[in-house]
Amino acid sequence: MKNASVSIVILAAGAGSRMKSQTPKVLHKICGKEMLFYSIDEALAISDDIHIVLFHHAEMIKERIMAHYPKQPLQFHIQDHQHYPGTGGALMRGNRQSNELFCEEQAKTFFSCRYEEILVLNGDMPLVRSHTLHKLCEIQAKIVMSVLHLSNPDGYGRVLIESGKVCKIVEQKDATNEELKICDVNAGVYKFHKSILEAYLPKLNNNNQQKEFYLTDVIALAYLDGVEVLTLEVEEEEFMGVNSKFELSQAQEVMLHRLRYQAMKEGVIMQLPHTIYIESGVRFSGECIIEQGVQILGQCEIIESHIKAHSVIESSIIDHSDVGPLAHIRPKSHLIHTHIGNFVETKSANLDGVKAGHLSYLGDCEIKKGSNIGAGVITCNYDGKSKHRTFIGENVFVGSDTQLVAPLCIESNVLIGAGSTITKNAAQGDLILSRVSQKNVPLGFYKFFPSQSDKES
Ligand code: UD1
Ligand code: CA
Repeated sequence: MKNASVSIVILAAGAGSRMKSQTPKVLHKICGKEMLFYSIDEALAISDDIHIVLFHHAEMIKERIMAHYPKQPLQFHIQDHQHYPGTGGALMRGNRQSNELFCEEQAKTFFSCRYEEILVLNGDMPLVRSHTLHKLCEIQAKIVMSVLHLSNPDGYGRVLIESGKVCKIVEQKDATNEELKICDVNAGVYKFHKSILEAYLPKLNNNNQQKEFYLTDVIALAYLDGVEVLTLEVEEEEFMGVNSKFELSQAQEVMLHRLRYQAMKEGVIMQLPHTIYIESGVRFSGECIIEQGVQILGQCEIIESHIKAHSVIESSIIDHSDVGPLAHIRPKSHLIHTHIGNFVETKSANLDGVKAGHLSYLGDCEIKKGSNIGAGVITCNYDGKSKHRTFIGENVFVGSDTQLVAPLCIESNVLIGAGSTITKNAAQGDLILSRVSQKNVPLGFYKFFPSQSDKES
């Protein structure tokens, strides 16, 4: 769907003060992925000329983007926020990260993109999808803008229409009481012909409540010169802006709905789907069953597996296995043909054909086919300074309540008696018992509880 002839500018230089957070707004996550990365992904699907405007926390945001997209052709611009704050200021040439000094009129010109058509996206709209952007790009006009029709337009810029034509956008803070009643609002995505930005950015001023250079004022200026503004009516579910933590939670609900819908479309069975939380890096294949209250986080692959109620899976591969209820599969676990029961926790565990039915901690370990892990078994992987690994071969029976003190190697066909503390390696065929031998003291009970013996005599 690449539309090679459009440049995309993503605006991400705002302060995000309504988020009330130390974290920059565009780095807040939705289903485990940074809000801004959703916009970048959709932009990359349609263009090879992408510009990101930053200012607040610019270095931090840029570093995170570069780490996530090491090979993508993304260009960064730092907004001259001090002199030209606002969404219009964000597109001005004075933003260039260079030593060039511009006079005021030069600084206010457009910073230049490779193509004639420029798609501008607010960086706080993580739900927008590339096919809708593509649709907007296909409309031929010097200015095309996205419009939302809302029952509650609170917070958005209102779209003023004169004789059926868009003539102006009024920000909420500048609107009259009459204008506030308008339910058509600016959704925050626009396509401009380069000549429009070149002509009207220099004419912007900041005579408004927020003392900002509004990109939206380009529309009123162009209208006065007879430029036609076409609109694309879009859905709130895709174009909502995220300005507060409440809106962040609403956007996440929408994203979750999409992720669950996609998974079910691919053949996953979900019980009470609204109770299931999955993140954007989760992949399913084959017929999987996900029961209620399950959380699947980070980069996960779930293949032909059954995840039972209230289990948590983090950055792991679960292949032809069943997990839970109430199990915790922590990062870098790889389970194949394995049964994990309730209250079992794994971490960095390679389990192939293993049964661990109850109450165990299996961390930093590799366990081979046919091995059975009894209830209460613990790999003691940490000595207070470093982590150590445990290796268990095939057909090993680890009795209940055994502690395996790593580093440790148990070869195949070994039987470990319940309640053992294993500190030494075991050779193939060994039976290991490390518990203290049992002592029975006849009538010891009555010595301890003399009153009971009176009652019974
Ligand atoms: C903006 C629109 C409003 C529209 C709404 C849709 C303007 C003036 N208003 O309002 O009409 O209804 O989006 O969601 O454009 N940004 C910068 N530099 C700045 C200021 C903002 O890059 O100096 C970025 C922000 O990081 C953000 C985006 O621009 O990603 C929008 O800014 P925001 O402050 O959220 O604008 P709204 O008040 O939501
Ligand atoms: Ca916004």
